[in-house]
Amino acid sequence: MSNAPTEEKVLSVEHFTDRLFRFEISRPASFRFRSGEFIMIGLPKTEEQRKPIMRAYSVASPSWDDKLEFYSIKVPDGPLTSRLQKIQGGDTILLGKKPVGTLVLDALLPGKRLYMFSTGTGIAPFASLIRDPETYERYDQVILTHTCRQKAELSYGLRLVNDLKDDPLVGEMVGDKLLHVASLTREDYPLKGRITTLIESGELFNNAGTPPLNPEEDRVMICGSKDMIDDTAAIVEKFGLKEGSNSNPAEFVVEKSFVG
Ligand code: A2P
Repeated sequence: MSNAPTEEKVLSVEHFTDRLFRFEISRPASFRFRSGEFIMIGLPKTEEQRKPIMRAYSVASPSWDDKLEFYSIKVPDGPLTSRLQKIQGGDTILLGKKPVGTLVLDALLPGKRLYMFSTGTGIAPFASLIRDPETYERYDQVILTHTCRQKAELSYGLRLVNDLKDDPLVGEMVGDKLLHVASLTREDYPLKGRITTLIESGELFNNAGTPPLNPEEDRVMICGSKDMIDDTAAIVEKFGLKEGSNSNPAEFVVEKSFVG
């Protein structure tokens, strides 16, 4: 079987801000992935770009969905996103064949609460996981945090969580198990501050009504920029949680969200 990407069709595109958009593409019947994984996607070659440009993107839709959704930043001079931000329904997207990643339920030991710490487009893998029934089968409580600079950047996550209540598949399972904690760093908002600050000050736990992190009960997934991951992972480790992987599940896992 060839490893070459398949050619998929853009089904919808939605722009949130001048920096953020989401799009959906067709999903080949043979394409299998675990919620939370990422995949290489790209655009066909052109006269100027002789090779297709492929980048790693977290799949934002859950593994049961018949479409694939992605949530992306727009970088004006980014090799891929400068072109990708202009896609329209019916355009062709190249889709890799090998989904991978560590932000998967299998890379964590069983626990009581699952925290998902995200910044910016780092919410994408969690958009997949919060729509997967297995997440609610494995945990009593799921706490999704999303920190952005400005309010408009929270829109995607706020709507996603709001719509989940009416979702025919997971709506009832979600019940009051899912808590969405949104914060801003550069505009006024009820909760202000970086996730690192909110964890260290205890404000996150006050807000969520949960005890401070502990390795017996809590599991953590982290997705954002490299600095955000490094800083957040260091704090989570101070609470005694150990990093896991697919081959060695433990108490927390990390992954860098796509930029460029
Ligand atoms: P801040 O506004 O204080 O930089 P970005 O768009 O740069 O990826 O940032 C998204 C969000 O992540 C912003 O709210 C930003 O806060 C926050 N952030 C940036 N760096 C870190 C870090 N090292 N640790 C935690 N949060 C961070």
